[in-house]
Parts: sequence; structure tokens; C-alpha cells
Amino acid sequence: MKIYDTVIVGAGVTGLTAAWRLTQAGQDVLVLEARDRTGGRLRTEDHNGSEFEIGGQWVSPDQEALIGLVAELGLETYSRYRSGESLYVDRSGAARRFTGEDLPVEEQTAKEIDRIIGVIDELAELMDPDRPWEHPQAAALDRVSFAQWLDAQTDDQEARDNIALYLGPAMLTKPIWSFSALTAVLMSASAGSFTHLVDADFILDKRVVGGLASVPSALAERLGDKVRLSSDVTHVAWSDSGAVVTVDGEQVGATSVVLALPPTHVRRIRIDPELPAEHRHAREHQSFGLVIKVQAEYDTPFWRSGGLSGTGFGPWQLVHEVYDNTPHPTGPGAATGTIVGFVSDVNADEVGRLSDDERRARILASLAAYFGEEALTPRTYVESDWQHQELTGGAYATSFDVGSLTRYGAKLHEPVGPIRFGSSDIAGHGFQHVDGAVRIGTRLAEQILGHSSTVQ
Ligand code: FDA
Repeated sequence: MKIYDTVIVGAGVTGLTAAWRLTQAGQDVLVLEARDRTGGRLRTEDHNGSEFEIGGQWVSPDQEALIGLVAELGLETYSRYRSGESLYVDRSGAARRFTGEDLPVEEQTAKEIDRIIGVIDELAELMDPDRPWEHPQAAALDRVSFAQWLDAQTDDQEARDNIALYLGPAMLTKPIWSFSALTAVLMSASAGSFTHLVDADFILDKRVVGGLASVPSALAERLGDKVRLSSDVTHVAWSDSGAVVTVDGEQVGATSVVLALPPTHVRRIRIDPELPAEHRHAREHQSFGLVIKVQAEYDTPFWRSGGLSGTGFGPWQLVHEVYDNTPHPTGPGAATGTIVGFVSDVNADEVGRLSDDERRARILASLAAYFGEEALTPRTYVESDWQHQELTGGAYATSFDVGSLTRYGAKLHEPVGPIRFGSSDIAGHGFQHVDGAVRIGTRLAEQILGHSSTVQ
């Protein structure tokens, strides 16, 4: 049996970053990936000759670890198209134009939105996102749902619905009553502030030429035959001196093992001796959010000629946010115009029960609420399907239920014998984002190399 320095399970950005850093340090590594491709939650697909990013795609200025890796790999970025007016679809279904950050709502509601943004910013300021459980108000904030916390902030329903939109459907992709106020503060602190999260021009700033999936592809290319595809790891036997990893009946040895998987997927692997009870409990309190990313490609970006940027928000719409997603001018599909939109949590549950044709009709009708009847007839229509893939199971990422971040958060970072765990879903900075995957992958490599002895 061949014995590697480190066997890494999962060829998403976390696993590939760890593998690349360990290889650069001279380690003999093997990456085992269950799918027949690398990249995990990043994938670029061709549909009718145009390029569509099916998973993660945007990069924001605070994501320094990802920006550094993109540059190191020789990849280029470009700005999301954003010239022109944005849209706000109000409760009556009317689309109202606006510019800048301030939604076209009553003055009093705008003031309430700004005030609550300030309150969350202050809470986020007090948080080290790598240790959210140490926030001075951690216990109190983790025992209430974000919905309960928000109800206590204001009686203004429209202000509540808009604040809820940013952290529920748009970020954690769960109903706001299913995660804690502390998790909402973590999501804000992980991006620097809540102000950053509500600023689409900041949080959805840049894209990578060729797609964000070029990052794992470039890493895998450098790793060459150290990455083995279609290798679903089913069993890890360990002792204090190392581990034996079983894949397709074959066994490989390792001094260290990294399970570079979302916490929900650790339990797919039989670990022997089994993980301490608290480790299992911690992961049982994690679950994936659910969002359906939809992209509609038109013969032209018709909204641009009407003075619209393609950006829009509709807290009461099936598609709660939309953006211009036309690829880079040199990329396939650049001559057309693409809108991306998102259907989240309970809305995604509801349309998920419909036939494909019914769901498409409902989603396009919602796009038409923003852009008019022209939006009803795209030349290409693409829905991302992560919820149907066992090796992911939702989108964008996993998070804790109410009360579990303080109870179990630190546990997800603890190694067990020679086994270490990681993914974007346990990151502090870059939580649930590719930047977090780069940071966690780097940290795991440093820990294995002995450059960083602490868990955080
Ligand atoms: P990831 O899940 O990518 O990798 C885990 C890998 O392990 C997978 O390849 C899986 O197949 C493999 N695996 C699982 N079990 C295995 C086993 N037993 N044996 C072997 N292999 C196994 N982020 C961002 O920064 N900007 C954005 O715009 C977006 N938008 C976005 C949209 C959508 C629709 C999604 C789904 C996600 C995003 N994200 C995002 C989130 C981002 O994509 C995500 O945080 C990272 O890609 C996660 O990378 P990881 O490597 O941590 O996990």
C-alpha cells in the first residue's frame, strides 16, 4: 500500500488549495474526488454556444485570499455590468427605477433600513468572524432566530422585509426564522460589514474571465496526476500514527487526511474508530440552504438600451434579486444578453414541486415583473440543480440551526487524530464563499506543515 504524506478528500477549492500549498512545500499528496470533474460548487457550462456559471461566480474587494490566488494563477477578472438604473419591484408588483444604494421606499422606511443596517454593522464590528462564539452578545444572539430579532427592531414591515432579503434569501438562503441572529451577524462580519452585503456593487464586484471555476481547474492542472477523479471515498480508518483511506476497494495510506467537504458530507464516510459524539452532533446541526440560480439569455441585453443596469430587488417576488450576467466581451455568449436571478428557500421549495415547464413559466413571469414582457422569451434558459446532486445537496452552503453556532461552532475546526476537516462553510472571513475555501485550505496546509499550531 502506497503511503502519502497527506490524502485530501474533495477537489473543491478548499481541497485543491490545501493540496497545492502542501505540494509546494514538498509533500507527496493525493486528492480523491468523487465526481468526474474538479471544482465542487464551481462549474462553467456551455449551453447553445454560450458560457454559463452554474455555481459561484462573483468576487468582492475584501476577498483578498481569493484575489491573491486568482493573480497567482495568472487569471484575469472583469467588472460586473452595472451602468444605468436599478429596479425595485414593490409589494404591488410595480417596478420602480432608482440609482445608488437607497431603495425607492417612503422616507421613514428608508431611515429605518439605514438605522438597522447601522445596528447590524455595530454588532459585526464586535465580532471576530473566526470566533463568532466569542462575540460579547453571542449567547443572547444565538438563542433567537433572525426573524425574532428583526421583529424586535422595528414595526416597519417594508424595512424588515428588505433587511430580511439581504441575509435570508440572498445570503444564507434559508428562511430567516431558521438561523440565529448570531449567524446573521457572522455573515455580515465575514464580508467586513453588513453595509458591504447590502451593496451589490461591492459584494458582486468582479468575475473571472472564463468563469470562477477556472480557479480550481488551474490548481488541478498544476497538481496533475495527484488528483484522481471518480473516487468516492467511503471509509477512513485511523490511529494516532496515520490513516488508511478506502476508495473503490483500493486502500491508500496517509500520515494526514483532510476531509475537504461541507460538514454535512462528512457523515457519508464511515470513519473508524468513529468520531467523538460531539463531532457528530455538531455536523448534524448543519444543513444546506437552498437557492435555484436561474439564467435567461436573450438575443440582446435589451434592458441596457432602456437605461437599466439589469440589477433589481423584489422582496415579494419569486425571483428576489436579478443582475446582468452577460459574459466577458471576449467570451462565448458575449454578443447576447444574460440575466441571472435567484429563487430561494421556501419559494424554491414551492417551485421545486412544479413540472419543469410550470417552474420555468413562473420564474420567467417574475423576471417580466422587472423587465417587462420581453423577458418572457429567452433564447436559452438554464437552472442550476445543486439540490439534486448528492455530492452537494443545496446552495450556496451550509450553516447552523438556531443555538448551534455557540454550542458547536469551534468543534467543526478540531482535528480528530490525523484527520482534519474544512470547507468554505466553516470559514470566518469569506464564510460560505470561495474566498473562505481558499483561506481554510491554506490554513489546513499550514497546520499540517506545523506552521500554525492552533485550530484557528
Ligand atoms: P465544495 O463543495 O466545492 O467541494 C467539496 C468536494 O468534495 C466536491 O467536489 C465533492 O464532489 C467532493 N466530495 C464530497 N464527498 C466526497 C467523498 N466522499 N469522496 C470524494 N470526494 C467527495 N461563492 C462565491 O465566492 N461567490 C459566488 O458568487 C457564489 N455563488 C454561488 C452560487 C451557487 C449556485 C453555489 C452552489 C455556490 C456559490 N458560492 C459562491 C459558494 C461557493 O461556490 C462555495 O463556497 C465554494 O465553492 C465551496 O468550496 P469547497 O471546496 O469548500 O466545497
